Amino acid sequence: METKILNANNLKHIELCAQTIREGGLVAIPTETVYGLAANALNEMAVANIFSIKGRQSDNPLIVHISSTSNVPELVDSIPTIFEPLAKKFWPGPLTMVMRKSNKIPDNVSAGLDTVALRIPNHPAALKLIHTSGCPIAAPSANLSGSPSPTKAIHVKNDIDGKIPYILDGGNCSVGLESTVLDISCDIPTILRPGGITFDEIKSVIGNVIVAFDTDNDKPRSPGMKYRHYAPKAPLTAISGPAELTAQYIKNNLDNDMAALMFDDYGLDHPNIITFGDSHDFTAQAANLFDALRRADKIGVVKILAQLPSEKDLGLAVANRIRKASGNNIIYLIDSDIFTKKRKEGNNGL
Ligand code: TXA
Ligand code: MG
Repeated sequence: METKILNANNLKHIELCAQTIREGGLVAIPTETVYGLAANALNEMAVANIFSIKGRQSDNPLIVHISSTSNVPELVDSIPTIFEPLAKKFWPGPLTMVMRKSNKIPDNVSAGLDTVALRIPNHPAALKLIHTSGCPIAAPSANLSGSPSPTKAIHVKNDIDGKIPYILDGGNCSVGLESTVLDISCDIPTILRPGGITFDEIKSVIGNVIVAFDTDNDKPRSPGMKYRHYAPKAPLTAISGPAELTAQYIKNNLDNDMAALMFDDYGLDHPNIITFGDSHDFTAQAANLFDALRRADKIGVVKILAQLPSEKDLGLAVANRIRKASGNNIIYLIDSDIFTKKRKEGNNGL
C-alpha cells in the first residue's frame, strides 16, 4: 500500500481520513502532543490492526480520543466529581483521564482492564477529524513500539510507511511529548504517566494528587510504563546532575562514534552534538526531544549521551522520556561541594 501524506489544513483531506476511519481503516493524525495512529475505537478489528502495525504488546491499553465532553457518559461507567473541573480547565489539551469503562469499549482497547483512558486533543485538524468520523478514536503514538514518538509527519512515514493509506500532515506537534495520564477512578487521583500537563497544574485544580509512574513493578497501573520506550537504535546513557557537571562529563567522554543531546546553553560546537533547548526551557526541550533522538540515530553512532533536565514542572515529563529511552542506564553526577557539605552535616543520604 502506498502511504500518502495529506494536508491537515485541507478539509477534503480531513474528510478522506474520516471516511477511511468510518470504513474500519487506519490513518495517522496530528495532535498537539505527538502524532497518533487512529482508528474507530468501537471497531475491534480496526483496533487489532493498530496493535499489529505498531508491534504493540496486547496488554498495553489505548487512549480514546473524543471531540466533546458530551461523548464521555456513553464511554464510562460513572463520572467522578473531579472530572468536571479537570475537563473544564485542561480539555481540549494534553490530559488523559482514566475512568471505569462502559461496556461499549471493546476489550482490546482497554487491554482487558476495567477502565478506559479518554482525552480531547487540542488540535483543530484532530478535532475536526474526530467530529467528522462520528466515532471515538483510539490512537496510540504513531511510532513503531519502542521507538521515539513522532512529532512530524516524516517521523510517522519513516516508521510505518506502506502500512496505512494516509498521514495527515499538521506540521510539528507543539507540545512534543505525550499527554499526562491521570487515573481518576481511584480514591486518590494518581498520575500514571507525566506529560504535557504538570503535577502542579493538576494540584491547583483538585488539591489532592499523587504520582505513581515508577516502572520497576511487573504490573504497573499504566501497563505502557513497563516497556522500554522512546528509544533510539543506539543505546542511550542519561547523565543526571547539575547542567555544568553533565556538560563537562559529556565533553570529557564524547568519542567520534558517539552523539550527545545537550542543552542549548551548554552545547559544544561539534557535528555529533544535538541541542534540544535551553537548560531552563522545559517547553523547548519537550518540543525538540523526540526529533533530537531520531536525529542522533541518523548520525549512525554506537552510543548516545543525553543531559537530563531537572525534574520539576514539564522537566519531569522530559526527564521521564529520557530515562525510559535509556532503559534506566543513568549516570548520576553529584557536585563535589554539595557532597562535602552534606558529609560535614553527617548526611550521606544523597
Ligand atoms: O498524547 C498522547 O497521549 C498521545 C496522543 C496520540 O494522544 N497518545 C499516546 O498513546 O501517547 P500511547 O498509546 O502511546 O500511550 C498511552 C499510555 C500508555 O502508557 C498506556 O499504558 C496508558 O496510556 N493507558 C491507556 N489506557 C489506560 C488505562 N485504561 N489505564 C491505565 N493506563 C492506560
Ligand atoms: Mg506511545
